Amino acid sequence: MPGEEAKKRIEELRNELNYHNYRYYVLDQPEISDAEYDRLYQELVALEEKHPELITADSPTQRVGAAPAAGFQSVEHRVPLLSLNNAFNEQDLREFDRRIQRLTGEGQPEYVAELKIDGLTVALTYQDGVFVQGATRGDGIRGEEISANIKTIRTVPLRLRRAPSGLLLIRGEVFMQKQDFAELNQEREASGELLFANPRNAAAGSLRQLDPKVTAARRLDAFFYDILWWEENEREGPATQWEALQLLKEWGLKTNPLSQFCASIEEVIAFCQQWQEKRFTLPYEIDGIVIKLNSLLLQAQTGFTAKAPRAKIAFKFPAEEVETKVRDIIISVGRTGALTPLALLEPVRVAGSTVSRATLHNEDFIREKGIRIGDPVLIRKAGDVIPEVVRVVTERRTGKEREFVMPESCPVCGSSVYREPGEAVVRCQGSSCPAQLRELLLHFASREAMNIEGLGPAIINLLMEKGLVSDPADLYRLTYENLIELERFGDKSARNLLAALERSKETPLPRLLYALGIRHVGAEVARKLAEHFRSLDRILTATLEELLAVPEVGATIAESVQRYAREERNRKLVERLRAVGLNFTLDEVEEDRPLPLAGETFVLTGTLESMTRSAAEEELRKLGAKTTSSVSRKTSYLVVGAEPGSKYQKALDLGVKILSEAEFLQLLEETKRSTD
Ligand code: IVH
Repeated sequence: MPGEEAKKRIEELRNELNYHNYRYYVLDQPEISDAEYDRLYQELVALEEKHPELITADSPTQRVGAAPAAGFQSVEHRVPLLSLNNAFNEQDLREFDRRIQRLTGEGQPEYVAELKIDGLTVALTYQDGVFVQGATRGDGIRGEEISANIKTIRTVPLRLRRAPSGLLLIRGEVFMQKQDFAELNQEREASGELLFANPRNAAAGSLRQLDPKVTAARRLDAFFYDILWWEENEREGPATQWEALQLLKEWGLKTNPLSQFCASIEEVIAFCQQWQEKRFTLPYEIDGIVIKLNSLLLQAQTGFTAKAPRAKIAFKFPAEEVETKVRDIIISVGRTGALTPLALLEPVRVAGSTVSRATLHNEDFIREKGIRIGDPVLIRKAGDVIPEVVRVVTERRTGKEREFVMPESCPVCGSSVYREPGEAVVRCQGSSCPAQLRELLLHFASREAMNIEGLGPAIINLLMEKGLVSDPADLYRLTYENLIELERFGDKSARNLLAALERSKETPLPRLLYALGIRHVGAEVARKLAEHFRSLDRILTATLEELLAVPEVGATIAESVQRYAREERNRKLVERLRAVGLNFTLDEVEEDRPLPLAGETFVLTGTLESMTRSAAEEELRKLGAKTTSSVSRKTSYLVVGAEPGSKYQKALDLGVKILSEAEFLQLLEETKRSTD
């Protein structure tokens, strides 16, 4: 085909494919079959292969591009992406309505009620109708540039219909349908990969993939709901939110068909109630309803509070509570010997996942809630993850329920148990309780402690069963002959474990102290103690006063250290660890001047490409920063690798600063340079 003709046909095919995309994704009224669509698509692919000079970035064939070279770039949003204030009940909604009336001075306001999709905010930029950029919300001011990944989402048009001129900014929500989420997790389970906790995490993990091919393979979807900014706005912009939604749809951006115009707050309330009940029938997850003042002029007039517009509010659904039955109450024994009662439940689905156990914390909790074995109970997810028992549905008891009694001896080793006065926890007194030992070994080997690679739960069980280890020091006496005889070991894995053990002997004192598993001595306290005393012997022989002189060490910690040091079996363990050649002193000279990142707290999530997580933590520690495992308001930075977990969303919610891997490396680089 000569050049001109090819060019014409390519243009025709692109228009046709864009049109059918629109029919399919936005209007949900396809005109042609998938096979016909594929034929047109293949024809375009073939033509573009012959004429690569005619390929443009907005061609339907260009959805999956190459990975960005150095992680995601941070971009400043042209318009800040604000968040919303919340309403939790009818009263809050009426209060919102009264406030709007007061602020606008007009009569009955009109509203638009939209489903609040539980996904991730994205901001799309179009220039003269052509997609030029997609970004995450980030902290609302700066986000990450994820254009290559956004382009892989079929519902995102690469070219708008009736191209609006100038620069256009659109806000929307990327999410994963429940069905696609379930299938993705099934595939991951089959291939031994970690499962995503919920569709939102799956969507976040998929969108923040460095390789767009991975994103393309995940079925992401999107709804768009706000025009953030439009150059042409003044001349031909919409006057209301309702018109804005129609306009988005005409442009080919998928809007949620269930949005509703409401002539009064009564209609809004009815809409909220209706969806609170029906939300589980939707193919995607929603966590509330967003209510927006319809008039965009009045929206602008009412302005903003610190973080949210006054003219919009999010009605949040209450946490889902479901009824199930307590089949049994069992006891698990932890590292410090704590006996924790667990409820084994009849499996039920709550908030998107199946739940079959719930923690009952301790004896007092069970008594306060009056929980018996066999009880019908209401459960809900606390903070989205750990299920908790809300209450017993006493009206549905059958009379066959049995009172639970806390055992008087450890269910694992049979030793007596003891409840310290003033404490809710009951502890096993056994000095050689296998449950405690198992937990201690797991803790000892963990990444934050001695970091013994390859020493997981299965191997620890095996070593204990064979009687090869009865305390952590025994690990260092394992021989090649010991290991090779075990069913799980081959030549390579035996050598690897021995090498890992050898390496762990170098572990610096703070982590060794933490590894001992002294109650109340977490990683951070261990570091403080180690840096203060600089030797394990000095810590374990310190007087109460000396211990209390360490910043942040209070009576609980000091007494716990002393109690540990007094016990015969602990003394023996320490001597045996010394004999093995572990690092009992802190000799690295540390300077007196404060470290450059002192006072900053970092949390890491997802997989980093350039280093392991423990290497990153080590780097940060050397610069004086603290690393913790969960995000809170006190977190200074969240460092986000590939496939981040729920910490990412939490950080977004709390407005914690987010660093991509590239930004993180840059920060390390600059900080190090500043101290040279
Ligand atoms: S409007 C100024 N509309 O909910 C804020 N948000 O808690 C404008 N969301 O970050 C947001 N569906 O991620 C709006 N129809 C909808 C929404 C929606 C989901 C999310 C969005 C936002 C969060 C606010």
